[in-house]
Amino acid sequence: MALRRGVGLSFFLVLSILYLQDSYNGYSPPDNYLIDCGSSIDTTVGGRVFLADNSAASKFLSTPQDELASSPSNSTGDSSLYRTARVFTGSTKYSFPITQKGRHWIRLHFSPFSYNSYNMSTANFAVSSQGFVLLNSFTATATVVKEFSLNITSSSLVVEFKPLGNSFSFLNAIEVVSVPDELIQDDAYALPSGNFQGLLRETLETVYRVNMGGPTVSPENDTLWRTWVPDVGFLVRESLTKAVSNIRAVNYVTDGPSHNIAPSTVYGTLREMDSASDPNSNFNVTWQFNVDLGFRYLIRFHFCDIVSKSLNQLYFNVYVDSSTAVSNLDLSTKTFNVLAAPYYLDLVTGLTDKTSIRVSMGPTTENVVYPNAILNGLEIMKMNNSVGSFSGDSSAVPSGSTSKSSIGSIVGSSIGGIIALVLIGVLFVCCQKRRRRLTRQGLSKSWIPISINGGTSLTLGSKYSSRTTASVASTLGYRIPFVAVQEATNNFDESWVIGIGGFGKVYRGELADGTKVAVKRGNPKSQQGLAEFQTEIEMLSQFRHRHLVSLIGYCDERNEMILVYEYMEKGTLKSHLYGSGLPNLSWKERLEICIGAARGLHYLHTGYAKAVIHRDVKSANILLNENLMAKVADFGLSKAGPELDQTHVSTAVKGSFGYLDPEYFRRQQLTEKSDVYSFGVVLFEVLCARPVIDPTLPRERVNLAEWAIKCQKNGQLEKIIDPTLAGKIRRDSLRKFSETAEKCLADYGVDRPPMGDVLWNLEYALQLQEAVPQGDQEDNSGNMIGDLFPQSNNFSNMEAGNVSAVALEVEGRPADDGNMSDVSMNQVFSQLMKSEGR
Ligand SMILES: *[C@@H]1O[C@H](CO)[C@@H](O)[C@H](O)[C@H]1NC(C)=O
Ligand SMILES: *[C@@H]1O[C@H](CO)[C@@H](O)[C@H](O)[C@H]1NC(C)=O
Ligand SMILES: *[C@@H]1O[C@H](CO)[C@@H](O)[C@H](O)[C@H]1NC(C)=O
Ligand SMILES: *[C@@H]1O[C@H](CO)[C@@H](O)[C@H](O)[C@H]1NC(C)=O
Ligand SMILES: *[C@@H]1O[C@H](CO)[C@@H](O)[C@H](O)[C@H]1NC(C)=O
Ligand SMILES: *[C@@H]1O[C@H](CO)[C@@H](O)[C@H](O)[C@H]1NC(C)=O
Repeated sequence: MALRRGVGLSFFLVLSILYLQDSYNGYSPPDNYLIDCGSSIDTTVGGRVFLADNSAASKFLSTPQDELASSPSNSTGDSSLYRTARVFTGSTKYSFPITQKGRHWIRLHFSPFSYNSYNMSTANFAVSSQGFVLLNSFTATATVVKEFSLNITSSSLVVEFKPLGNSFSFLNAIEVVSVPDELIQDDAYALPSGNFQGLLRETLETVYRVNMGGPTVSPENDTLWRTWVPDVGFLVRESLTKAVSNIRAVNYVTDGPSHNIAPSTVYGTLREMDSASDPNSNFNVTWQFNVDLGFRYLIRFHFCDIVSKSLNQLYFNVYVDSSTAVSNLDLSTKTFNVLAAPYYLDLVTGLTDKTSIRVSMGPTTENVVYPNAILNGLEIMKMNNSVGSFSGDSSAVPSGSTSKSSIGSIVGSSIGGIIALVLIGVLFVCCQKRRRRLTRQGLSKSWIPISINGGTSLTLGSKYSSRTTASVASTLGYRIPFVAVQEATNNFDESWVIGIGGFGKVYRGELADGTKVAVKRGNPKSQQGLAEFQTEIEMLSQFRHRHLVSLIGYCDERNEMILVYEYMEKGTLKSHLYGSGLPNLSWKERLEICIGAARGLHYLHTGYAKAVIHRDVKSANILLNENLMAKVADFGLSKAGPELDQTHVSTAVKGSFGYLDPEYFRRQQLTEKSDVYSFGVVLFEVLCARPVIDPTLPRERVNLAEWAIKCQKNGQLEKIIDPTLAGKIRRDSLRKFSETAEKCLADYGVDRPPMGDVLWNLEYALQLQEAVPQGDQEDNSGNMIGDLFPQSNNFSNMEAGNVSAVALEVEGRPADDGNMSDVSMNQVFSQLMKSEGR
């Protein structure tokens, strides 16, 4: 919700069309046969009517050599379906006319009790349908529901029950129900690698259907009347895990899984790592499921990130046994960048060579904000074996003889077992050969290349209708007609200029649909070449993140180079810290802004195959929207980076100077850690609310980074904190914050933390600020910093003392005079640099 409300962007309007809201209409199956066996009255369970089968429904029973049985007591279970049963002493068939071909579920309900001489717990029988052996040598000793799904291509479906030996068979209820086509797709990932194709033709038996971190979901709470069981019984080490529930957060998206794939009670609960106390946690959350040897299993993982506060925060690995099924899974990229949208993943195992399957989720070694891994739901479906059976002794498709001796059946089944093993071996070899390494769907880049001055211009209106299902991100970066830009900026009205830089002027504007924008119009004479302009559009379009200022469109008509960005109502972070007379930000607001900016940078560093270095991190490049949400700007256009706030345009070089990584000077080598350094300077700037270079101050104080580190080391940081924060920062929060800033300013890049750690620590500092113990009020100064504020930290009253030569030199030079220093500075701060991935 916040995503939609937060930003007045047409992009998000497009996204919001994707939301299904809660307008879900239930599925009504074309074929829907529900029979309460042995009952003389219809039975309603969870809103569905099971027909009594000694009346209307008896027409489905083709060979009624059976007895009605009814339980002498209510002891056989909670469901009224289970009070009656039908006992078959001979081979029996149920036949159902099929009105719509396709996948159907057969659900068989068994709940044994004793009736006359029939002790149903001892019944031994086989069930087959459409040539598949669903159950063989089956005995139900407790209430059990067996669910199979078959693609029915004929006009009737026959389910046959055959007693084995001298035994009999029984049944309490049967369902034959159409399955919506969306439920099973033809292809899946294959383990250990490659793709599996042909699921549409497979017959499946549901062996596990589990709601991770949540309660049992009963049929009435599932649009397809499925039962989901809790996961606790399958967890290997429950104590390492935590269950989370936030059902209302689930966002069904039209192109994503629907309620039929799994209900919100499944997507809205999950199990995650319980690592809150330790940022270095590294362990797997593992579940174990018993399975039969020699079968392939379809494993469906259900994910929905209801724990992250924003996109691209959660990366984790998915393992099945010792194979990595997916590494570095980032759900945001799978859900059209909608948070908490459901996503599922199908995976087909090889033939099982063990009697259990272990499913694990674990944190990744890279890209970690919080080490975490989640799973919302899991379904494990057995696939029929090569002879069309779900039972190990597969040859024994019962012949209908009720007098087969038990010895005969043992011999028969062991011979059958050998044949099956041979067949399995052959099949296994074939499958291995057939497997190809295919590039996995969804990992490919979804960016549609832009051709400059080629192709047709899109009108603004078309962005609302041109959405392709491939990816929302791919449709961004729209070409905007020049007339629309003219209109938006009141024909480049000089009074609408909000910034000037080497690249050209920045105007505020408003598009025809009311979207407020910032328009950067490239000066045709600027050094910024066409190719660079193109690269920047491409980069900006790829890096979509709520904490990066978004590109709305561009215009390249008439040799113009115009970029249109979302408008950031509240301007730069810098203007809210000092020099503008804007109201002071609270400590919490400052922390949240720093956290937002850190997220944006973390995404730049890790959100893409190659790390991207911003190269010009500073408070003037952190912009705030109307809700004070921070977004990092100018990461694609840093050449002579024009500021969006007019007041600091001419001080770009000076400003950036105070942020520059000293190691860059020494080694001429830029890494992500250079951004971390600059960000550390921003952190102190936020804490102290003073310019990073202030030549009017005594020499030792001119450079904020140096001065703050010195104070921090002497334990005197409190002296230089923004006086308006006096008494409002909790001591723990300040300590965490300043330690983090200090680490960012380490001399050597290797000693600085990655952006993910910085982010984590800032969030921790926010928690420490907000964690008010019971009965402890916000203004309890005992825990607060501020009693010791000296009068002397009013910097504006300081007299200019000995100013460092460097600072003077920088101060004395306008930003855009074309001398050599400017050129080198421009180079330092200019092009967006992609460093090779690690
Ligand atoms: C079984 O339960 C039903 C209602 O749930 C009740 O009417 C009936 O008397 C019970 N039968 C026995 C034998 O307890
Ligand atoms: C059933 O199988 C046929 C091929 O045998 C396939 O074309 C069809 O799409 C399948 N239907 C469903 C619902 O799986
Ligand atoms: C039915 O058979 C099961 C398993 O052999 C046995 O445990 C149970 O006691 C029997 N019940 C009756 C009523 O005989
Ligand atoms: C299932 O549905 C019933 C009402 O239909 C509701 O009271 C119950 O809370 C639901 N359970 C879950 C787990 O949502
Ligand atoms: C998680 O499980 C996988 C597969 O068994 C294993 O390779 C990996 O090392 C495990 N990770 C941890 C942190 O134990
Ligand atoms: C399941 O049975 C069908 C039809 O007999 C067969 O084509 C398919 O290969 C079988 N599946 C497996 C995994 O062997």
